[in-house]
Amino acid sequence: MIDPARYSGRVALVTGARRGVGRMVSEHFLNGGADLVGFARGESTIDHPHYHHYRVDLGNASEIAAVFDDLRKAVGRVDIVINNAAVLTSQYAMIMPAQAAQAMLNINLLGPFMVSREAAKLMRKRKWGRIINMGSMAVSLEPMGDSVYAACKAGLSTMAGVMAREFASFNVTCNTLAITAIDSDMLNQLPRNKVQAIIDRLPLPRFAVADDILNVIDFLASERSSYITAQTNYLGGVN
Ligand SMILES: NC(=O)c1ccc[n+]([C@@H]2O[C@H](COP(=O)([O-])OP(=O)(O)OC[C@H]3O[C@@H](n4cnc5c(N)ncnc54)[C@H](OP(=O)(O)O)[C@@H]3O)[C@@H](O)[C@H]2O)c1
Repeated sequence: MIDPARYSGRVALVTGARRGVGRMVSEHFLNGGADLVGFARGESTIDHPHYHHYRVDLGNASEIAAVFDDLRKAVGRVDIVINNAAVLTSQYAMIMPAQAAQAMLNINLLGPFMVSREAAKLMRKRKWGRIINMGSMAVSLEPMGDSVYAACKAGLSTMAGVMAREFASFNVTCNTLAITAIDSDMLNQLPRNKVQAIIDRLPLPRFAVADDILNVIDFLASERSSYITAQTNYLGGVN
C-alpha cells in the first residue's frame, strides 16, 4: 500500500497509460497523490479527478511536440516521466516486415527521445526531474525474433546515459528499468512456451508481479535518488 501523500504535489507523465504495465504504474502514482498525465493512442480507461489523458501517436514526432504544447498550457509542468509505451513484433530477422521494424524504432526509441527532451524543457524550469525508461530483459537474453525490439530497448539505456549528462545540471536523473515478463496484452501475443523458455533462463525464474516494478519506480522517482542516474536496473537477476 503506497503512502497516499508520497507523490503529492508532483506531476507524473506515463506513456501507454491505458493498458498493461502503464496503467498499473499510472494507478500507483494516482494512489500516491500525484497528478497524472497519460499518453496513449486510444481513449482513456482511467477515471480519476487528478488524471489528464492525451491521445497521441508516439511514433509521430510532430504529434508529440503538439501534445506538449497543449500540456504546457493545461498542466504547465512535468516532474516524473515513465517512458513505458512500446510495441512488439517478434519475428525472425529475415522475414520481419520492414514496416513493423520501422514502427518499433519510431515508437520504442524515437518516441521516448521526443517525450524525454520535451519533458526535460519543463523540468529545467523547476530544476527537478526523474526520467525512467521501461526497458526489457530482451537486451540481455537476446531472444530470437527480438532483434529490433531488443536493440530499441538497448538504445533506451544508452539514451538515458547521454541525457543523464545533458540534464544533470538541472537536477534531472535518467534511468532505465529493464523488466521481465508480466501479464499484459503484449506478453499474451507471444506463444506461452516461448515465454516460459525465456523465463527459465532468468536467475530468478518467475514472472514479474506489479510490486517488483513499482518498488524500483518508487526508488528511482524518490527525492533521495538524486545521485542515481544513467543506470539500468534489471529485474529477475539478468544483467
Ligand atoms: N509485458 C511484458 O512481459 C514486458 C516485458 C518486458 C518489457 N516490457 C515493456 O513494458 C512496457 C509496457 O508493456 P505492456 O506489456 O504493458 O504493453 P501493452 O499491454 O501492449 O500496452 C502498451 C501501451 O502502449 C501504448 N502504445 C503503443 N503504441 C503506441 C503509440 N504509437 N502511441 C501511443 N501509445 C502507444 C498502448 O496504447 P493504446 O492502449 O492506446 O493502444 C498501450 O497503452 C513496454 O515498454 C514493454 O516493452 C513488457
